[in-house]
Amino acid sequence: MMYKIRLIGDPVLREKTKQVTNFDGQLQKTVAQMIDFMHQEDGIGLAAPQVGLRNSILVVDISPIEEEEKPRAFINPKIISAEGESVVEEGCLSIPGVREDVTRPERIRLAYQDLDGRRIEEDYDGWLARVLQHELDHLNGILFVDLISPVKRQLLINQGLIPEKY
Ligand code: CO
Repeated sequence: MMYKIRLIGDPVLREKTKQVTNFDGQLQKTVAQMIDFMHQEDGIGLAAPQVGLRNSILVVDISPIEEEEKPRAFINPKIISAEGESVVEEGCLSIPGVREDVTRPERIRLAYQDLDGRRIEEDYDGWLARVLQHELDHLNGILFVDLISPVKRQLLINQGLIPEKY
């Protein structure tokens, strides 16, 4: 089974995902397929709604930026605290051709579960913090173009790069 990327304008990207409650073989399979698909699409992060799934799952692999990194999976992630501020240009597999500066906290503390359902709390900064926040937004129906200035957003609409209603 191969996934297809859901693009901006697809209603599934606006839905809030449901918590994962079954930490079983099916979850492991889904995560493995999401990681394969993310690699195939040359992405450094992917959230379940981007492939049409409605579960709170995201995968990240920033090894193209930080060599020693490996694919990571986060189930039911939630930011419990955040501090600092940074501006980074972001893109999104669901919004091809668009890159814009986005302001977000620099450091986050994240609570999540691993594939076995174990609860973990960890601090992240740098690229991992950035990608995790972008993907976590997807799980709540938020896209990075929601976070840019209305003027810039209108420009993207005028240029036909994003739909007027999404
Ligand atoms: Co995205």
